[in-house]
Amino acid sequence: MGIPNLQIALDNSSLDEALATIKEAGPFVDIVEAGTILCLAEGMQAVKCLRALYPDKIIVADTKCADAGSTVAKNCTDAGADWMTIICCATIPTMKSALKEVKELQVELYGDWTFEQAESWLDIGVTQVVYHQSRDALLSGETWGEKDLTKVKKLVDMGFKVSVTGGLELETLELFRGVDVFTFIAGRSITAAEDSAQAAQDFKAEIQRIWG
Ligand code: 5RP
Repeated sequence: MGIPNLQIALDNSSLDEALATIKEAGPFVDIVEAGTILCLAEGMQAVKCLRALYPDKIIVADTKCADAGSTVAKNCTDAGADWMTIICCATIPTMKSALKEVKELQVELYGDWTFEQAESWLDIGVTQVVYHQSRDALLSGETWGEKDLTKVKKLVDMGFKVSVTGGLELETLELFRGVDVFTFIAGRSITAAEDSAQAAQDFKAEIQRIWG
């Protein structure tokens, strides 16, 4: 079992804010994500800036793409992204066309999806999924628990690299002890912290404590 990566999700509404945060936390994370909110607010300029700042880190464009897979994926790659996200309800042709343009595609699991669909993503060469608790679900009282662990484990057993995200706090990580999580994606717990650099280091230390 590997040690999970730490990915920061920059869901700021302005590039200036995102850059201020990443300058603090960037050195301590493995993967940098231009979050959906940032992509929608600032477009691919955000990805270009992150790539310029971090030539050697993996950059993810969290587009949650639903259609026009090859065009969106090419835009992400041209801007410097390594990976992009696609929503689980996108069609197989959309996923296939996106896969031709990016190094890796992450299927974002929201709402209704099935393990049968997940098999069809593997069949076309998708290697990554992001198991997500939506921020709106969390706001309406949803919490991380056994039901999530069961699904995450099954996806790992199927052969996916599984990232986990959605309102993650330091205390959430313990729930996944013993599970081969590929990456923990943390947004507000790092970006909204008084000291983002310290918050990122705390996540790294907790991952090391549990999986190291
Ligand atoms: C929202 C996202 C976020 O980037 C992800 O959920 C992480 O953010 P947070 O830790 O703040 O919930 O994909 O759609």
